[in-house]
Amino acid sequence: MSTTQDAGSRKTPRVAPDLIAHWVVKSARTEEMVRWYGAVFGAEIVYQDEGITFLTWDDESHRLAIIAVPKPVRFLFPFAKFRRKAYGIDHIALTFHSLERLLENYVRLKRMDILPVWSINHGPTISLYYEDPDGVRLEFQVENFDAENTAAFFFTEEFAKNPIGVNIDPDYLLSQLRNGVPHEELRRREAGTRPGRPVVANKKTITPKTL
Ligand SMILES: [Fe+2]
Repeated sequence: MSTTQDAGSRKTPRVAPDLIAHWVVKSARTEEMVRWYGAVFGAEIVYQDEGITFLTWDDESHRLAIIAVPKPVRFLFPFAKFRRKAYGIDHIALTFHSLERLLENYVRLKRMDILPVWSINHGPTISLYYEDPDGVRLEFQVENFDAENTAAFFFTEEFAKNPIGVNIDPDYLLSQLRNGVPHEELRRREAGTRPGRPVVANKKTITPKTL
């Protein structure tokens, strides 16, 4: 998109809803999904019967519902996991309020062999993408600036030159953070590349795995 509207110049009254409440999926892998969201979000079941499971991980009544479809249905859609690579919703993004929490969560999940499919500093955000057992992609992100300056990043020359970002090594970034390097320095897009390793930037970050 090449619109050049200035950040903060919107004058129309707000018509959008106030919050994202939940999402609902149809799945032939309810047990696997419950385990995965339990591990990743600390999700707990608030209601379950043979047809539907409601989960939450905060004070919302439910954040995710899983409608059970018969297990053989998965064979009718052998490429369902790949649909998002070509069409429809690509991912849902969820924010951590600090880089430390984002990266400590990465370590926690890594211990359970749950690894990101893509780790990148987009510029406005540092983002780790994961996929649930049905292939729904979730972006865990931290904003690199306060809200105003994160939005303003979209209007910088740097963003125009490279609107995708630079791949990061989360282990390296976390080691830097633990050594006392602040987020204000680590938010530079090249700061997440381990010394001696190639900088992978812009369209080169897009591979069959990250697409
Ligand atoms: Fe995103």
